[in-house]
Amino acid sequence: MRRIFLIGFMGCGKSTWGRKLSGFMGLSFIDLDRYIEEKMCMAVPDIFEERGEDAFREIERMCLQEVAEIENVIISTGGGAPCFFDNMDLMNAKGLTIYMNLQPKTLVKRLTKSKNKRPLVEGKTGEELLQYIVETLKHRGVFYQRAKLSVDPKKHTLESMAESIKTAMI
Ligand code: S3P
Repeated sequence: MRRIFLIGFMGCGKSTWGRKLSGFMGLSFIDLDRYIEEKMCMAVPDIFEERGEDAFREIERMCLQEVAEIENVIISTGGGAPCFFDNMDLMNAKGLTIYMNLQPKTLVKRLTKSKNKRPLVEGKTGEELLQYIVETLKHRGVFYQRAKLSVDPKKHTLESMAESIKTAMI
């Protein structure tokens, strides 16, 4: 049984890598945010706006518990998911956690280009975004560092990433 959780800050490429790796490794793919949206019939930014972040975190936790029972799957999680409740313990108990570790400046570039709506960083200038990422990573980084495998996605091809994962799963 193979179950892989991709974790890391917004914009690090969890969903893109998850989709590509799942095809390459013959696993199914679940994006936790899309799973939440389907379950709630609501977009993530709308959940934040209408119900607030605390409610979103409760929903995220419940959905994570559900997908953590699915087998032979790669699950990309939202940037905050590992940092609330005992979600990191749950993921470490249920599968291989992979931290996709990118420099704050790289994250700024990617988030600035991204068309995805992200309520926590919406409307921030490049400078504000950099400051937010550096500050937020001070506490989120503690959770991310608990992943079983840490990778710099910029240094990997699809093949080399799949190879590192296979080695970590032995
Ligand atoms: C969040 C990241 C988002 C999404 C929500 C909150 C966060 O997912 O779950 O907007 O707290 O970092 P991505 O990391 O896929 O952008």
